[in-house]
Amino acid sequence: MSLLTIRDLTISHNKQNILNNINLKLNTAEIIGIAGGSGSGKSTLLNSILHLLPQDFNIQGEIHWQNKNLYDLKAKQLTHIYGKEIAFISQNPQTFFCPVRTIKSQFIETISAHQKITADKIITQALDIFAKIGLNDGKNILNAYPFMLSGGMNQRINIALTMMLKPQLLIADEPTSALDVMSQAKVLQELLLMKQKLNTSILFVTHNLKVLAKIADKIIIMHQGKIIEQNPTEILLANPQEDYTKKLLQAVITLKK
Ligand SMILES: Nc1ncnc2c1ncn2[C@@H]1O[C@H](COP(=O)(O)OP(=O)(O)O)[C@@H](O)[C@H]1O
Ligand SMILES: [Mg+2]
Repeated sequence: MSLLTIRDLTISHNKQNILNNINLKLNTAEIIGIAGGSGSGKSTLLNSILHLLPQDFNIQGEIHWQNKNLYDLKAKQLTHIYGKEIAFISQNPQTFFCPVRTIKSQFIETISAHQKITADKIITQALDIFAKIGLNDGKNILNAYPFMLSGGMNQRINIALTMMLKPQLLIADEPTSALDVMSQAKVLQELLLMKQKLNTSILFVTHNLKVLAKIADKIIIMHQGKIIEQNPTEILLANPQEDYTKKLLQAVITLKK
């Protein structure tokens, strides 16, 4: 059984379709990469899985989490799923953390809401993950307020917190776009380890196919609210079918020169 199944999902706003007839299946311990240009609907797709769409969006179709339709569930059931089973790395880490509370207090509050664990253990685990993703000086980071840290640091702290929640599904919207190449490689390495060690499934959105080449089992290409092509990573990269996919690939190759 697939972990997440999206059937005939169409999302519109003011009678304009933002997503058109999306179908997608994600298995346990599978990483699906979603690529596409700006405005192609990538964030809308992720937000629909997370119940984060604006109220005035019209949603048709089904999103099944295991055997439950996410849009049939009550708020209380959703609270249990989000954070514990499905966790999110936001495109805007600045909006994720409360700016005026220390990182440490937010880690302790969030993790202990979902796991039976002592504050000391949370701190030890956080310092360990910080070091792995290139956040040195972890003790100072834990005592800092988010507004004192750069966007890239906040992003990696968000990634560390999400990893500690050990979700079955991790949803990541452009999680490494703001990072330098070294930090990016470290984060990708840790995401791969999560898949290998914890069987975490990941939906990873980016406009950078080079990133997906490193971690994705399968790549989906979106254009104007539609899935226009999907294939296992090696096949898609070696033998793109659509002109739009070829253009995206060409952009990566040009950047490399
Ligand atoms: N809150 C919103 N209200 C109205 N239109 C929106 C909103 N959010 C996104 N859209 C529209 O939906 C389309 C897809 O946006 P988005 O999902 O953010 O694309 P991507 O993440 O691929 O850049 C865009 O045309 C955008 O203008
Ligand atoms: Mg987006």
